[in-house]
Formats: sequence, C-alpha cells, structure tokens
Amino acid sequence: MSAPKKLYIKTYGCQMNVYDSERMAETLGGKGYEEVKSPDEADMILLNTCHIREKAAEKIYSELGRYKGLKAANPDLKIGVAGCVAQAEGEEIMKRQPMVDLVVGPQSYHRLPAMEEAVSKGQKALDTDFPEEDKFEAMKSRPKAKRGPTAFLTVQEGCDKFCAFCVVPYTRGAEVSRPADRIMTEARNLVEVGVAEITLLGQNVNAYNGHENGLAGMIRDLAKIDGLERIRFTTSHPNDMDDALIAAHGDCEKLMPYLHLPVQSGSDRILKAMNRKHTAEEYLRLIERIRAVRPDLHLSGDFIVGFPGETDQDFEDTLAITREAAYGTAFSFKYSPRPGTPAAEKTALMVDPDVASERLARLQQQIVQQQRDLQDAMVGRDVHVLFEKEGRLPGQMVGKSEYLHAVHVDGPLELRGKIAKVRIVSSSSNSLAGQLIAT
Ligand code: 5AD
Ligand code: SF4
Repeated sequence: MSAPKKLYIKTYGCQMNVYDSERMAETLGGKGYEEVKSPDEADMILLNTCHIREKAAEKIYSELGRYKGLKAANPDLKIGVAGCVAQAEGEEIMKRQPMVDLVVGPQSYHRLPAMEEAVSKGQKALDTDFPEEDKFEAMKSRPKAKRGPTAFLTVQEGCDKFCAFCVVPYTRGAEVSRPADRIMTEARNLVEVGVAEITLLGQNVNAYNGHENGLAGMIRDLAKIDGLERIRFTTSHPNDMDDALIAAHGDCEKLMPYLHLPVQSGSDRILKAMNRKHTAEEYLRLIERIRAVRPDLHLSGDFIVGFPGETDQDFEDTLAITREAAYGTAFSFKYSPRPGTPAAEKTALMVDPDVASERLARLQQQIVQQQRDLQDAMVGRDVHVLFEKEGRLPGQMVGKSEYLHAVHVDGPLELRGKIAKVRIVSSSSNSLAGQLIAT
C-alpha cells in the first residue's frame, strides 16, 4: 500500500461547516488521505469557507496568499476552496488566485473523490451545482473509529426565509430535509462509537420536515436511542417554533434546556425591513410560552446592528429586547452588505460605520454583563455535566452543563464521556468551577 496522502482542512464559520469538514475528511479518507494538523506537511489543503459577512470572505483570500510559498516549494500540493465562498464566487476564486486547483460548493461534496482524481492529474475542478441527490447519503459512510462524546449531525440545509441581509438562501440553496431513517441510522452509528450528545444542525433546523411530525417528532424518535443522552438543535427561526417543538422542550428529558433563537433586532420597523415576518412582541410572547414549559431555558440569540435605516431609537429597542428576553448568550454583528441580497441595495440608508461600531460596542458590553450575571447566578446550583476532556490543570476535567456552560471539576480521566452531577462553586469570565456530587 502506498503511504497515505496528507489532507489539511481549515474550517471557517458555522457548525454546519464543522460537520461538512468531518464528512469531507471521511470521504477523502476513501481516496487515501489522512488528516494532518498543519498546512506545511499537506498534499492537499482544503479551506471550508464562510460568506456570511464581508470580513469572513476576505479572510479566505489572505489565507490563500499565505500558501504561495508552500505551493512554490511543492508544485504537487493541491489547494481547494469549499463552502459558501466557493458557492458564491465560483470561478472568480481561480481567477483571483490561479494556484487554486479545486472549487466545490456545499451541495457537491459527494463529488469530491472524482474532483480529487481530476486535480491529481493536473486538471482544475469546479463544481457549484445544486444536484438533486442527498450528498451525505452519497458520501462514504462514517468510519467506526471511537470518537468524542459530542457530535454534530446535519438534518436540514438551506433556507427559504430570505432575510434581506442574508446570503444563505443563495449559497446553500432552498430548504432540504434529510429523511428521518437516515438520521436515525447515523445517530445510532455515532452512539456506537461513543457519542452521548448530538446537536442536530440546519440553517433553519426547526423547519425540518423529513419526519412526519417535524423536528419534534425526529427528536422524540432519537430520544429512544439507548446511550444517546442529550439532544440539542440549532439554528432556529422564531416562525418555525411550532407547538410540538415547544411541548418537546417541556417533556422530552433528553432535549437540553438551551435554545438558540435569533431575533436580529428589537425594532419592528427594522424587523420588517429585514423581512423577518414577526414583531418584537410576538418574539417575546413566544419565549414566554417556551419558558412556561421549561422555566430554566437558557436562551441564546444573534443580533445585527447598523442595518440600513437603523435609527438611535431602533437601536434602543434592540438593547431593550436583549434585556427583556434575558439572553444567557448572545452574538452580535455589525451589518455587512452582501452582494446579491436586497438590503445591500439600500445604499442611501447605510448607517455611518462609526455609529454602527459604537452601537455594536454598547450592545456587546450589555450582553457580556447579562451573560456574566446569569453565569454568576449558577453558583450554588447543581447541574449535570457531560465531561469531554482534561482541563488545563492536572487532575482537572472539563465538560458542558445542560445549559452549555463550560464546567471544570477535579476528577479522574474516566469521567470522559460520562454525565455527572456537579455543584457549582465559582464563576469566572467564561467558565464555571464545580465539585462532583454523584456520577
Ligand atoms: N451582516 C451581519 N451579520 C449577518 N448575519 C447574517 N448575515 C449578516 C450580514 N449580512 C448574522 C445573523 C445570523 C448570524 C449567523 O450572522 O445575525 O443570525
Ligand atoms: Fe439567513 Fe434568515 Fe435564513 Fe437565517 S433565516 S439563514 S438569517 S435568511
């Protein structure tokens, strides 16, 4: 057998890209590649890219620039660009960076082995189609090697919502759900190799319709798998939070009390301009209904500041909704015009970049304070921690609570992959410390 070829994958952006990168590595494993941790030793470099904001896309070109020396030293080195920048820019990437050999959009990953063959013969390979077949089904099945206690599993891709700022409907295409039986099989296989927690992924995961009872039905079926202890899902749209899914938060024990439900803005005027199709009040009432069945729910969200036309008052409304919804975690971004999206055409309404930066800083300051207060309030409480790895200090183990807080305790390595009850004793900037009570 010839020596394995070396593959270096660098992943940008969301969790769906993390999952896709794993699957691409597995698929290229069938072509004799094994993963390495540094581009210096690679025979193939694959950048799995994100196009959500301008900065994310520009990063790719500067990263590619860094590989020039490697390519000069090793002309056999193959360089590929995957992900949403590949989808959005296609051939442009090869024009701007001729050393790129391969460009593959997110819906064509199952065609990677054939593309790899072409590039290894010195040809260029480009595929940004939206083929009909289920790419994950067509990709090599997942290997049986033992793996860590948590895993991602993509159940749905694409988005039909067309928020005015967002490139996702263009780069990932229309909403497509994977059939429930394939998800069950993949989940069982993950549990067999040591996974105890699965996060179901989708750009609009709660619009999942591959199960006759939607995402709630899928979650309830997955909850029947012995050994699968925890289920999470992300990212959701408020308008797809149906009664069945709300009910599941109340009575499905394996569904964790954490929900990422972005609202983007607290101003009805801006929500309308964003094409979100709900008001701030409707969002808050929805949160109330979910908290009625799951009072300890840890809510997480995303915000965009400086959307075209945003006034000081609109921004104050955003500050207000972050307080009212009591987010445990929130991510906030400065609006970035994306080519081809309706909001990018509103050039006359663009917010002054300095004003937007100042708003972003104010929002982030408030969010950090809120996060910290909620985290500090965990001290003295008991949580259940799924331990993932050793901590930084000797004899320490780290894992996640049901609320996704990082928690560390003094405990043995055998805790890895197990869930234990922990009493929280202190809170620091981004983690909690606790004592084991019971395993
Ligand atoms: N500019 C800034 N932030 C954006 N997001 C999506 N598109 C843009 C954009 N054009 C944010 C949204 C989304 C998160 C993943 O990224 O808040 O929920
Ligand atoms: Fe983008 Fe809106 Fe779809 Fe989320 S729901 S992926 S923000 S278009």
